[in-house]
This record gives sequence, C-alpha cells and structure tokens, in this order.
Amino acid sequence: MNSLKDKVVLVTGSSRGIGAAIATLFAEHGAKVVVHGRDAAATSAVTARIEQTGGHAMPVVADVTSFADLETMRRRIEDELGPVDVLVANAGGNQVRPGPVEQVSEEGWRATVDGNLTATFLTIKSFLPGMKERKAGNIITVSSAAARRPDARSPVPYAAAKAGIQILTQDLAAQAGPFGVRVNCLAPETILTERNQQQIPESLQEELAGMHPLRRLGTPEDVARAALYLASDEAAWVTGVVLDVAGGAVMV
Ligand SMILES: NC(=O)c1ccc[n+]([C@@H]2O[C@H](COP(=O)([O-])OP(=O)(O)OC[C@H]3O[C@@H](n4cnc5c(N)ncnc54)[C@H](OP(=O)(O)O)[C@@H]3O)[C@@H](O)[C@H]2O)c1
Repeated sequence: MNSLKDKVVLVTGSSRGIGAAIATLFAEHGAKVVVHGRDAAATSAVTARIEQTGGHAMPVVADVTSFADLETMRRRIEDELGPVDVLVANAGGNQVRPGPVEQVSEEGWRATVDGNLTATFLTIKSFLPGMKERKAGNIITVSSAAARRPDARSPVPYAAAKAGIQILTQDLAAQAGPFGVRVNCLAPETILTERNQQQIPESLQEELAGMHPLRRLGTPEDVARAALYLASDEAAWVTGVVLDVAGGAVMV
C-alpha cells in the first residue's frame, strides 16, 4: 500500500486514543501527518513518537467546535505542508452517562451533538471546498456502534449524534463523488484506548468481549487498519460506506 506516500493527512483528535493510532499507522505508510487535539503537550508527544521512528508529523491545536479555529488550523497546515489530501474527522466522544432520555440535561445534549455531529460538519465545511476545487480528496468520518443499533443502555445524545454523522457522510459522498472526493465512515464498537482501559473495569471488559463473536474488544490499531484501507487506493471504488469495526458485534 503505497498510496499514502507524501500525502498530507489530518487526523483530528489524534493527541491520544484511536486518532493517535491512525496518525501513527499513516505515518508508517509515508504520509505527512498532522497530529491534532486541544492538548498541546499531548499533540507534541504523539508527534515526537512518530518522528522518532522516521515519520513526518506536525502538531496543531484547535477546537473542532469552532469554525474560526478550524479555518486558522487549515491555513496553517496549507502554509506548512500544502493542502490536505486525506481528512480523518475523528475528534469527538461521549459526554453523557447512559440513562433515561428525560434525565439527559439540555446542556449535555447540546455539548454532545456539538462535539460530535456539529464538529464533524464544521471540519468538513472547512476542508471540502479545496478538495472539490482540486478534484481529489478523501474524507473518513467516525461514528460508533452506539449509532448502529438501538439499545436501552445507549447514551442517547451520543448515539443520535453519531447516527447523524452516518447520513452526513452518505449525503456528502453523493455530493462530492462527481468531484473525485470519496467519503466513508468508520463505526467502532468498544475500543481499548488508554481511557477505556482506565474507565472500564476488567470484569466489564470481559463481559463486553463475550458479546462480540470474535470474543475480544477492539484495539486502536484495529480501527487504524480499517482507516488505512479506506484512505488507500485499494478502496478507490468505495464511497458512502459505513464500515463496522466491531468484531461482529454489529451486523447490518
Ligand atoms: N473508544 C471507543 O470505544 C470508541 C468507540 C466508538 C467510537 N469512538 C469514536 O472514536 C473517536 C475517537 O475516540 P477515542 O476513544 O480515541 O477518544 P479519546 O481517547 O477520548 O480521544 C479523543 C480525541 O478527540 C479530541 N477532541 C475531542 N473533542 C475535541 C474538540 N472539541 N476539539 C478538538 N479536539 C477534540 C481529543 O483531544 P484532546 O484530548 O487533546 O483535547 C482527543 O485527541 C471519537 O469520535 C469517538 O466518539 C470511540
């Protein structure tokens, strides 16, 4: 897979977790990777790790819920590395506890939709016009297994926001395809990021693993390999797809 060689790739939310694994793997495949987050020390640490192994990386800090921040970041990347060829709109996460929907606060709902669906929209709004103009580009969004099937234990605002990302992805694939831009979505089940390893007790990890036909939880690298496929020319005829990276826990 050589199609990422010297490509400029922005992975939002790559200061840790799944995004850091995607940035690291893409750099191993020759991409010039932009490592993004809000935590400057964490973006610098991931950048340093990539550079230590001979990769090319640049750290940036921006809040993806702010279009002004995103535009400033885009201009900086274009000045230093050139236009973004591959955008992985990964930043996000759940901000509410699972529970009855009527107990979800208005603030929690808005923050979750803002931090996932609106953030993905704003990120794409900043980077898509250049891709359409250049008649080339590749966008990968990140949903969740929570958006793939109804579940009484779901954090509802998060599931709804992530489901919105799926149709946003597919509408966009229909709009941008004629301009040579592919747009696909990854939908991971529970992934053992550093955060989840700390937050999910071992007994629950085992219980969750047992619900997967492949009998384990996912790793950030599992998601990174799926992203690598979608970003590569191996997937040249794939657009508008929601790819479950879920060990068989979701089959739709
Ligand atoms: N882990 C899972 O089990 C799982 C399952 C399904 C889907 N997902 C999705 O996969 C993506 C990555 O999740 P993860 O588990 O790797 O998360 P994580 O470890 O909590 O990392 C989240 C990343 O997103 C960044 N981020 C979040 N909100 C941001 C904002 N407003 N502006 C800028 N950066 C922001 C964080 O930056 P800073 O920390 O530097 O602020 C960090 O780099 C998310 O979209 C998540 O919803 C995760």
